[in-house]
Amino acid sequence: MDIKTYLKDKRDLIDSFLRGYFAEAVRPEVLTESMFYSLSAGGKRIRPVLCMAAYEACGGRAEDIVGYASAIEMIHTYSLIHDDLPCMDDDDLRRGKPTNHKVYGEAIAILAGDALLTEAFSILSVPRPPVTPDRLLSVIAEISTASGMRGMVGGQVQDMLSENSGPDEETLRFIHMKKTAALLSASVTSGALLFGPDSDRLSAVSEYGLKIGLAFQVIDDILDIEGETEVLGKPKGSDEKKRKLTYPRVYGLAGSKAMAGDLIKEALAPLSDFSSEADPLREIAGFLLNRTN
Ligand code: IPE
Ligand code: IPE
Ligand code: MG
Ligand code: MG
Ligand code: MG
Repeated sequence: MDIKTYLKDKRDLIDSFLRGYFAEAVRPEVLTESMFYSLSAGGKRIRPVLCMAAYEACGGRAEDIVGYASAIEMIHTYSLIHDDLPCMDDDDLRRGKPTNHKVYGEAIAILAGDALLTEAFSILSVPRPPVTPDRLLSVIAEISTASGMRGMVGGQVQDMLSENSGPDEETLRFIHMKKTAALLSASVTSGALLFGPDSDRLSAVSEYGLKIGLAFQVIDDILDIEGETEVLGKPKGSDEKKRKLTYPRVYGLAGSKAMAGDLIKEALAPLSDFSSEADPLREIAGFLLNRTN
């Protein structure tokens, strides 16, 4: 299989769902417009693709869960809009375009983020065959925990508290596990949960998700130093500007690259009981290691 084609096909499914969902603006129109502005600016769609790949690895058809996968992308996009605000990372470029607050102002940007988060759970609360209400309930529990005080938001708070702080390996790992690995892992786990409750399968994909999730943020830290703004679609050097606690800051560039490589290798082990239906999950791991944006 060609992973680039796989990713593009899945991205097209997500993009077309989102276009349809936001086709009609709700009053006041500027809110729908600003939500869709950030959603449609580009973006790799890694989280919803992972969700669909896990659903397929269990034996499902990705087309059946596009809306639920897209809801995860809405939560991720909300987190980016808020992450870029002047009171947080204070960045002006995202997905190759001016950040939401630069276009719509801070108040609308905050509210667009709030609405993306809330609307995502509205989508997740409507059962559509073959997905049953009990499965959706478990997905809602998984994603809300991964996004909130015990997950992404907690990680974002520690990320800010640790600006200008000295190297602290335990806190660094905590930040990256919470702010990034939690939602990435929940995306994969949700794909499996949407298919059904098989505890062996669930713990395998969640372990895979945590490993690639931590690697994902380590690589993001590396790209902040070695990437190019035009390719990243966001300003390189943002972490240094804010004196963030990052992997390169604590382990150096070479050390961080080695750790990311090890994590990606380790991520494959939990998938050993899966057949070739899990090949996209395996290929995505390798793709993430070599990404340039
Ligand atoms: C950026 O996520 C924020 C992190 C958690 C590192 P992505 O690198 O997935 O950003 P998009 O969605 O492709 O823009
Ligand atoms: C943000 O981490 C993680 C989120 C939960 C949004 P970063 O602040 O490093 O993400 P980028 O580099 O701005 O995309
Ligand atoms: Mg940040
Ligand atoms: Mg940031
Ligand atoms: Mg970053």
